[in-house]
Amino acid sequence: MVLTGFMGAGKSTLGARVAQELGWRFVDLDEEIVRAEQQSIADIFDTAGEASFRKLENIALTMALKQDRLVLALGGGALETEANRRLLADDPATLLLYLAAPLEILIARCEQQARLQPQAARRPVLEKREVLRERFLRRKPLYESAHWMIETTAQEPDAIVQAVLARWREHTSGASFAHNE
Ligand code: S3P
Repeated sequence: MVLTGFMGAGKSTLGARVAQELGWRFVDLDEEIVRAEQQSIADIFDTAGEASFRKLENIALTMALKQDRLVLALGGGALETEANRRLLADDPATLLLYLAAPLEILIARCEQQARLQPQAARRPVLEKREVLRERFLRRKPLYESAHWMIETTAQEPDAIVQAVLARWREHTSGASFAHNE
């Protein structure tokens, strides 16, 4: 199962909880990149640039999708890379879930996280406020091409986790795989 959505969507927090409920492994794609490169995401952006980060992200995704019984949280920009979209589409075992919220809510969540956890990783894409809305709008249709979407704004994390698990059970019981049904 793969979770997508913009920064602040809750991919890592909710993904870890869903994995725990399923007894599966949880992998955060950003953390895999940090581990492989021994460098923070912000440092990779600063020294090598975003294009290099996207290549590393693609390699990390290729590796991650080889594993079964895995809940994978993508970085918010992973679907912008066409090769990543193809990898996900070509993997019949992948159920892609989109955690959605309006941009203002997402920014507020990221800011709150930065306040509450000052040691948390810097988000270089979030720092470029002048192009944030443009990025969000560009990505929206890509997120919306996921198999399923859940609006996270008005729901408690527990309810979202339960909804994701219910969607997964529906999927494994042979329900259709159509997009956004
Ligand atoms: C990015 C989102 C980040 C991380 C990198 C780029 C983006 O992941 O991959 O900083 O382009 O939106 P999160 O969505 O987990 O914050």
